[in-house]
Amino acid sequence: MRIPVIAGNWKMHKTVAEAVATVTELKRRLAGVTGVKVVVCPPFLAIKAVADALGGTAIGVGAQDCFWESFGAFTGEVSPEMIKEAGATYVIIGHSERRQYFHETNETVNKKVKKALAAGLTPIVCVGETLAEREAGQTERVVNDHVTKGLAGLNAHEVRRCIIAYEPVWAIGTGKTATPQQAQEVHAFIRQRLAQLWDSATAATVIIQYGGSVKPENIKELMAEPDIDGALVGGASLEAASFEKIVKYNGPMT
Ligand code: PGA
Repeated sequence: MRIPVIAGNWKMHKTVAEAVATVTELKRRLAGVTGVKVVVCPPFLAIKAVADALGGTAIGVGAQDCFWESFGAFTGEVSPEMIKEAGATYVIIGHSERRQYFHETNETVNKKVKKALAAGLTPIVCVGETLAEREAGQTERVVNDHVTKGLAGLNAHEVRRCIIAYEPVWAIGTGKTATPQQAQEVHAFIRQRLAQLWDSATAATVIIQYGGSVKPENIKELMAEPDIDGALVGGASLEAASFEKIVKYNGPMT
């Protein structure tokens, strides 16, 4: 039984004070929610304050990136160990914005995933094609590359500890959601590849989130698909009220 994971990726939004105010409201709105794991991913600077504010709740905290070394002369970088110590237990790795603006590759994603796992974090590994790639019929090739190379060298136990987020780049921040069928097709493909690369029990265990313009209006139909196990939500996670509606996609669960 895969428990859905709904994570909010706040990207470069919210000061420490704003982040704490948001999670204080979320804590109240999501009290008693069951059947779904909720995670918020604030900017680095707010991780500690957010984790402290959420102490004693079931809401998890994640970072939006990490480096692949524990410490050293890497100006501006943050290690998985530092993230963990600040109170986060998840880390988004290889988001398409990092691939696009910060030259992340499948190889750097792979190094980060390994280091995050070694530090005891749950990596949320982002995969997904651009519009040009989809239109050129390259979706499966690109997603296969992201999965195969991003998770290269992991054993089955480590793969089971990862979350994969399928985020078609053309659906991120554009208001264009993949249809539930389009998303399901790729999710099923990813699960099939996991079964081939590792084993079917591992494939059946891994949480595969959908991301890209997820909103209160479309979450329910996405979650109805058999291989969609949650969502990575950007814009619609910034307001506690809309994130609450997404988390409670099945109606009030209290
Ligand atoms: P969006 O972003 O929900 O604003 O489209 C999703 C993401 O980038 O994780």
